[in-house]
Amino acid sequence: MSATPQQDFAGHAISLTLNGQLRQLNVQPWTTLLDLLREQLDLVGTKKGCDHGQCGACTVLRDGKRINACLTLAIMCDGAELITIEGLAQDGQLHPMQQAFIKHDAFQCGYCTLGQICSAVGLANEGRASSNDDIKELMSGNLCRCGAYSNIRAAVQEVIPLLDAAPDQGGRNQ
Ligand code: FES
Ligand code: FES
Repeated sequence: MSATPQQDFAGHAISLTLNGQLRQLNVQPWTTLLDLLREQLDLVGTKKGCDHGQCGACTVLRDGKRINACLTLAIMCDGAELITIEGLAQDGQLHPMQQAFIKHDAFQCGYCTLGQICSAVGLANEGRASSNDDIKELMSGNLCRCGAYSNIRAAVQEVIPLLDAAPDQGGRNQ
C-alpha cells in the first residue's frame, strides 16, 4: 500500500530558542505551536483550553510578547525566542509573577493559571498597565472558569507597579 502524502512529507526544519535552549526541530506546516509544545516536546504546562484563541490557556511568550500558541503555526516560529511556563523560573527561583500568584492564592483548579502567568509577564513587558482597569482590560484574553479574577489581579498588581492603585472593584476581567 502506498503512503499518503502526509506520511511522505518530511516536514520543515526550523530552529528556535526555547526556554533558553537552541532547538533544531522538524515540523509539519499545519502543526500549531501548541501541539508542538505539548505533543512533540512534552511541555504540557501550556494548556489547551478552547484551541480557538478564545481562552488564553495556551499563552506563551514569543520574543517577550504574549501570544496564543493555538493560533500560531510552529513553522512561523523559526528563529524566535520562546518562553513557556516551564522556562520562567531561573536558577531554581520562581519568577516574581509565579511567586505573586502563590502569595495571593490566585488560582483554584489551576487550569488557566499557567497562561495567566505568562500573559501577566507579557503585560509587564509591554509596560502599558497603569491602573486596575488597565489590568482588567489587558488581561481580558485570559479566562478563568473558577472566577479567581480578583486574586489574579492582586498578584499582577504585586509585580506591575500601578500609577493609579485604586481599590479593585471585583468582577471578571473585561
Ligand atoms: Fe489557545 Fe484557548 S487554547 S486561546
Ligand atoms: Fe480554574 Fe482559573 S483557576 S480556570
